[in-house]
Amino acid sequence: MFASVFVVILGLLYCRKGSSQSFLGRPRLYGPSEALAKEVVYFKCEVPDYAGDEEIYLQLFKVGDRNRSLGGYTSLRGEVGAIPKVIKPSHEGYLECVVSAQNNSGITPTVSHPHYLKVIDPVKGAEIIHSDPMEFYEGNALQLQCQLSAGTHVSYKWLLNGQPVSQSPVHYAADNLLRIDRTSSKDSGSYMCMATNTFNKTTVFSSNSSEVVVTIKDFVSSPNIAFTVLKEDSQNYSAVVTCESTRGTPPITFSLYNRTELVTNMTTDDRQATFKVPLVLDRHLGWLQCQANNGERIAYSDWLPLEVVPAGGPVTMHYDFDLGENYAIVGLRFYCKVKKGSHLRYQWFLNKTLLQDRGSFYYVANEAPKQSILLLSVGRSSTGTYHCEVSDSFDNTTAISSKKHYLDKDVLNRLPILLVAVVFGCFTALILLVSICCCIGVMFRRRQYGEKSLLNLEMDTMRAAYEGDLDLSVYNEDPDVVNAARGDEFDHASEASVDE
Ligand SMILES: *[C@@H]1O[C@H](CO)[C@@H](O)[C@H](O)[C@H]1NC(C)=O
Ligand SMILES: *[C@@H]1O[C@H](CO)[C@@H](O)[C@H](O)[C@H]1NC(C)=O
Ligand SMILES: *[C@@H]1O[C@H](CO)[C@@H](O)[C@H](O)[C@H]1NC(C)=O
Ligand SMILES: *[C@@H]1O[C@H](CO)[C@@H](O)[C@H](O)[C@H]1NC(C)=O
Ligand SMILES: *[C@@H]1O[C@H](CO)[C@@H](O)[C@H](O)[C@H]1NC(C)=O
Ligand SMILES: *[C@@H]1O[C@H](CO)[C@@H](O)[C@H](O)[C@H]1NC(C)=O
Ligand SMILES: *[C@@H]1O[C@H](CO)[C@@H](O)[C@H](O)[C@H]1NC(C)=O
Ligand SMILES: *[C@@H]1O[C@H](CO)[C@@H](O)[C@H](O)[C@H]1NC(C)=O
Repeated sequence: MFASVFVVILGLLYCRKGSSQSFLGRPRLYGPSEALAKEVVYFKCEVPDYAGDEEIYLQLFKVGDRNRSLGGYTSLRGEVGAIPKVIKPSHEGYLECVVSAQNNSGITPTVSHPHYLKVIDPVKGAEIIHSDPMEFYEGNALQLQCQLSAGTHVSYKWLLNGQPVSQSPVHYAADNLLRIDRTSSKDSGSYMCMATNTFNKTTVFSSNSSEVVVTIKDFVSSPNIAFTVLKEDSQNYSAVVTCESTRGTPPITFSLYNRTELVTNMTTDDRQATFKVPLVLDRHLGWLQCQANNGERIAYSDWLPLEVVPAGGPVTMHYDFDLGENYAIVGLRFYCKVKKGSHLRYQWFLNKTLLQDRGSFYYVANEAPKQSILLLSVGRSSTGTYHCEVSDSFDNTTAISSKKHYLDKDVLNRLPILLVAVVFGCFTALILLVSICCCIGVMFRRRQYGEKSLLNLEMDTMRAAYEGDLDLSVYNEDPDVVNAARGDEFDHASEASVDE
């Protein structure tokens, strides 16, 4: 037993001594996996299985490039070789250590496993590169590039006025590029790119570009045209024409044209302009159009007739109403209209006090110049005498008044009962008429045949039943019949009783 163990150990020793002449074993390469450019880093290479006494040579290479040695170390007795290296960005990649016997070409060199090295070159000299002019109109594309003088493993961030540029279907940022396909004025501002890279997850390097100011102008939108009338003195009037665009980057030049020529023009830093044009009442003075221009395109308004018709003719007032539960009138609408007039002002009065826009029980809906509507909730506070007045908006001395209407909740709510009575009166009369006709017919027949048929008897019974029902429904106010009766007759009846 002991003898055999001894033989094995001896054999092993022999083998080891014999192989050391021709076999080096695989070397091991150690070193950082990440390094900063321009710094000195030590790579260590050892041959753990080597026990010979020949000089061995350890060399550092990039994998795939054995022509250029990155450094070497001569190991006399197989000690660990430390190979110093000044790091450059080009060293990034897989490295390997090759070991060979110095003076014995009979021994084959061996290679370590590859070791990956990542090289961080701190970012430097960020700068925005652009080809287009930095002032243009909306809709064009904008492309900016962030260029660096140094940097590896860089991430880029774009800032607009200090805020990160958000990604969207038209805002595209990738790598060192920012592209906006369809710009709008919201993309105007001061752009900056921020380049950063990180070493060892702890040290952050960054470089900010200087700011580049981009101005994107909105096209001016089609202006609206409108005018108000100004009374200069007792005889002279002017039209104050307003041209207004809702969007567009100022300055904007507004021009007022009639059918043949430019009347006047004006450049503003606002989106609106007003022009004064002399005016003669009650005469068509032609057509006006606004044109708005802020550089590249002209936007046109509609054509507006320059004509002012003073208020005239009778002012009429009528109303309709809503029924609530039990057919009580709960809401009522007065309508005020005038025969002619283009620039009108409507006013509503209750007991001669003016009703402004809105109150506890009313609301004025102005649809000038067509009409004005006064909405009322019928109650105790809405009782009184109503009328409306119409005047020219530019001259309130010429107000025309409507007739007056007295309104009272109790009077109003007697209306549905009255209506029911009238409608049922008519209905009863009709039924009576039909019955009389039937009776006459029956009597005529009886005279002819001399006897009363079973049919006639039934008809009489039915008629009696009808009349009985009818009386009942008058007092019950059958809803169907009342609904059906909300027509012209009712308006007549109600107006007659409310008119003063
Ligand atoms: C190996 O060769 C070099 C020259 O090539 C010589 O200087 C050195 O002494 C030799 N070493 C051994 C151990 O033979
Ligand atoms: C990397 O960071 C760690 C701590 O996070 C630190 O211990 C180590 O020294 C750093 N390495 C280098 C090369 O700076
Ligand atoms: C770059 O800009 C950012 C944001 O304005 C700022 O926080 C950072 O300190 C700047 N970095 C440098 C190196 O100027
Ligand atoms: C009003 O009209 C008269 C004559 O048409 C003119 O002389 C006068 O200057 C006008 N007044 C104003 C304020 O425009
Ligand atoms: C257009 O305006 C000019 C100048 O204000 C005036 O002389 C001309 O009669 C006007 N033409 C029409 C058709 O109104
Ligand atoms: C405004 O009108 C004047 C002539 O009335 C003209 O010379 C000028 O070019 C116009 N300006 C613009 C911006 O159209
Ligand atoms: C309006 O006058 C009537 C009497 O004519 C009066 O009953 C009513 O309370 C008055 N209404 C208001 C709101 O003053
Ligand atoms: C007409 O309007 C002027 C100013 O808006 C006002 O001072 C005046 O009281 C009004 N006159 C009438 C009768 O409403």
